[in-house]
Amino acid sequence: MNNPQTSVLISDAQIQDRVRELGRMVTKDFPDGELIVVGILKGAFMFVADLTRAIERPLKLDFMGISSYGRGKTSSGEVKVTKDLDMQIEGANVLIVEDIVDTGVTLSYLVGVLNQRKPRAIRIAALLDKPDRRLRPVHVAYCGFQIPDEFVVGYGLDFDEDYRGLKDICILKEGA
Ligand code: IMP
Ligand code: MG
Repeated sequence: MNNPQTSVLISDAQIQDRVRELGRMVTKDFPDGELIVVGILKGAFMFVADLTRAIERPLKLDFMGISSYGRGKTSSGEVKVTKDLDMQIEGANVLIVEDIVDTGVTLSYLVGVLNQRKPRAIRIAALLDKPDRRLRPVHVAYCGFQIPDEFVVGYGLDFDEDYRGLKDICILKEGA
């Protein structure tokens, strides 16, 4: 689709290649034990769907809703759990799957919350990382792509709930 408000930063094909690589890494790193994939709604929904199909070992899947941004392009700085896990994670390997790490406020808060539930280990997979914007340190074990400080949409990511269905990751042009 040719959308005048967006320009492609990472193509569908590049995303699919990289997600398959990340899946192979996760498969190799978790040879045994229970693996619970925790997808962060809503932005990570496509990444979760593709990554779980690229992980070739048994896994369980749950979702968590977190909001930190509200509307617009800047973070409110406030993190809120809008949907908690349905599953217990005590003793399990947990793989948090997030769309993008920006300031790191959301993920550092989330790791703190989940660690209190005594999982065996927690690792993070993030499709995108904007390292320039980091305010809180976050260790991303599986990073898809590091990107510059631009606001991006597509492949699950939104701007005020639009653009989530785009196949590519696109830069949203100024004034959009
Ligand atoms: P953080 O707490 O600043 O790391 O924010 C992470 C969250 O902000 C992500 O889960 C996204 O929902 C949102 N976000 C950050 N940058 C972008 C972007 O470029 N496009 C869309 N959403 C973004
Ligand atoms: Mg998000």
